Amino acid sequence: MTSTPNSSILCQSRRVSVIGGGKVGSTLAQRIFEKNLADVVLLDIVEGMPQGIALDLMEAQPIERNDRQIIGTNDYADTVGSDIVVITAGIPRKPGMTRDDLLKINAKIVVEASEKAIAQSPDAIFILVSNPLDVVTYLSWKTTKLPPNRVMGMAGVLDSARFQTFIAMELGVSPRDVNALVLGGHGDLMVPLPRYSTVNGIPITELMDAATIERLVDRTRNGGGEIVGLMKTGGAYFAPASSTCLMVEAIINNQSRQLPASAYLQGEYGLNDIFIGVPIQLGCRGVEKVLEINLTDAEREALHTSAESVRANIQQAWTLLGSS
Ligand code: NAI
Repeated sequence: MTSTPNSSILCQSRRVSVIGGGKVGSTLAQRIFEKNLADVVLLDIVEGMPQGIALDLMEAQPIERNDRQIIGTNDYADTVGSDIVVITAGIPRKPGMTRDDLLKINAKIVVEASEKAIAQSPDAIFILVSNPLDVVTYLSWKTTKLPPNRVMGMAGVLDSARFQTFIAMELGVSPRDVNALVLGGHGDLMVPLPRYSTVNGIPITELMDAATIERLVDRTRNGGGEIVGLMKTGGAYFAPASSTCLMVEAIINNQSRQLPASAYLQGEYGLNDIFIGVPIQLGCRGVEKVLEINLTDAEREALHTSAESVRANIQQAWTLLGSS
């Protein structure tokens, strides 16, 4: 019997390397592992730590009833042939630190991680998580020299989930019924879009007054900072790991999910040669499409302001990297 190749089978990806085994990286490994999505390679510079986490997760297998492999390592050779590389390596924000304060340290870490990972997995799709997100996504793209559809940053799913959470809390409805959209850079200048945010199809502008919406928008913009302020010794990691896992799943299962992510723009929204949060279609080949939605003048201006900040930080990163 002959069978016709099926594109979804040809596209299946089954090995995910997570670079950085800290809070976000290890929780992501756990999420991927527990959903039985793929084999996971967890890499960190700290000796023994990723190996310990991997062993702990393996020992949960008989209970969780899954059968994927998980390897903890300090050696990039173990990441060979990965279908997806997720970079979470870096330092997280400390109280009072902006994401951009992290620039110098994390830019260097991400460039080095990208060089080493692409050497082992030239066909991989890269998802960046480290901050400042849009800047390091650009640096990783330049370093790996991959086509732009194979490099993206995770932020929009998380920022939108935070907006959804605050809307659900305010209205006392299930978060499952809430959809929200946040574009722009992953920073204080992100662009939550109430016009495109709904509760089961009803725009939130019909359900809340303008002052309430503005309060939720502000809380979303400060969503990461609020958690850093409460935890004091680190940042959020459960929702960031869930958000990244959703993107990994969209690629692995070729789901053509429509979601916001930091993607390379080539004229869309009047922006060029920059990674910034926009709605994309995500499947087994990475970013299949950048969607250009209608924006009001104010929304477009906010997106451009956010892009200017990202662009300035990319310039600054190159300078810092050149001088280090
Ligand atoms: P963490 O400190 O718990 O983990 C970072 C890990 O990176 C540490 O285990 C560290 O040993 C490792 N690391 C440092 N240099 C490395 C290198 N050269 N190679 C490999 N591993 C290296 O931090 P956490 O909370 O996991 O956050 C990780 C990053 O993700 C931070 O930059 C944080 O700001 C960012 N983040 C981004 C979010 C987003 O929405 N894009 C959301 C949450 C966090």
